[in-house]
Amino acid sequence: MSYDILIKKDKYKQFHLKGNPFVKTSAEAMTEEEILETLVFTAEDESIATNIDIVLSGGGATISLVGDYGTGKSVRAVAIAETFKKHGGLVFLCKVPSGDPVRYAIALFESVCPEALSLKLAVEDKDFIFEIREYYKNLTIKNLELDSHKAGRDLASVFSLLSKNDYSTCFIIDEFEELISAGNEREIREAFTLTREYLSRVHGLKKHITVICSSPKSWQMVKDVHPAVISRIMAEIEFEDLDNNAAVELVSKRLKIYREDNPPNPIFPFTREVIEKANEVAYHNPRYLLVILRSTLEAALKRDGSQRVELQDLDTGIRLARGKLSTSILKRMKEELTTRELDIFLKICEKFNGGPVFASQLAESLDIDQGNISRYLNKLAKIGYLNQNREGQKVLFEAKELYKVVFARKKAIKLEAKTDKNEE
Ligand SMILES: Nc1ncnc2c1ncn2[C@@H]1O[C@H](COP(=O)(O)OP(=O)(O)O)[C@@H](O)[C@H]1O
Ligand SMILES: [Mg+2]
Repeated sequence: MSYDILIKKDKYKQFHLKGNPFVKTSAEAMTEEEILETLVFTAEDESIATNIDIVLSGGGATISLVGDYGTGKSVRAVAIAETFKKHGGLVFLCKVPSGDPVRYAIALFESVCPEALSLKLAVEDKDFIFEIREYYKNLTIKNLELDSHKAGRDLASVFSLLSKNDYSTCFIIDEFEELISAGNEREIREAFTLTREYLSRVHGLKKHITVICSSPKSWQMVKDVHPAVISRIMAEIEFEDLDNNAAVELVSKRLKIYREDNPPNPIFPFTREVIEKANEVAYHNPRYLLVILRSTLEAALKRDGSQRVELQDLDTGIRLARGKLSTSILKRMKEELTTRELDIFLKICEKFNGGPVFASQLAESLDIDQGNISRYLNKLAKIGYLNQNREGQKVLFEAKELYKVVFARKKAIKLEAKTDKNEE
């Protein structure tokens, strides 16, 4: 928390707020209550609800929530967990640790076994779970090799046992993409094999749901390595862009938990225009939207005589948020793009100020064959980093607004700073 909140208290009051509602930009930073109060349902939630319904009526389901960093997977995980608990179900949550498959296996068993052992079960069932837990917990200490097939089966057998004892269970595996961010190819395969074995054993298990939250790239990788996995998934739920109505609702719900008195309207001091523009710049990603609104509100507070948030505050806000945005956007880009593609894209932003630029100009500047550069550019356009516009016979490429703001002007500022230093 920054001191801003203290020293501008009166100003916040004028906006009918008791602080900055956009400070928390991830599920992990929020309380369960805050998450549930601010959650906005989108089309994806219909599919989630359908699957919960199936399980609560005695069936089984496996679903994957697939979306980029900040699209709201973890807040959904919390909402799913809450619904299950309300209906008397048991919820187990595993945040995947980065690193080797042994750590993955240990994390999975540790998120299930201790709680399972506290349940009312027959002695032999408890012994069974106890032994499994001890075995995996001590893998590294005893220097044992992980049998990923067996681990997948063992994990599933714990859930089968709970299902036989009439427990409804929900197992959430969040941050699945961590598996690929740290492991080498062999390790990743091992971890995927464990996951596949597990999924095929819990497939159709009564009163059980497995929810896997993953980035699109990691999810695609599992499907490439183990195509059969997909036949075990009842619903692959992909998070689409946050539309403007959802963005407005998100803002209004966020503001609501920071109100002390009644505002002139639910989105005051914002306007629909500012929110829509921010959502566009945020590339319709909820986390980026929150990051931008946070500094936009700060900018409005600092501006003398401000009565509400204006478009000029948004401009200032975006500039202030650039550092935070670039870290998280780069993280996502490194997941999605090859080194070469990332290089080319950043070059467009930095050297050409985001474009518009012709393939031929880039080919010359980067010393790459024009045919090759065109292929890279077409791919970058296809996956949403660049806009394409035809000019006569040729095509102009231009970075999308968000990337321009974050990466293009950054260079300019760096240059300004350098010049200042030289003058000193
Ligand atoms: N549908 C939504 N309704 C309300 N807030 C959302 C929604 N989707 C995302 N958010 C907000 O965006 C931020 C990022 O969400 P999070 O679940 O942590 O993303 P992920 O797990 O996909 O990286 C959180 O602060 C969350 O409150
Ligand atoms: Mg998350």
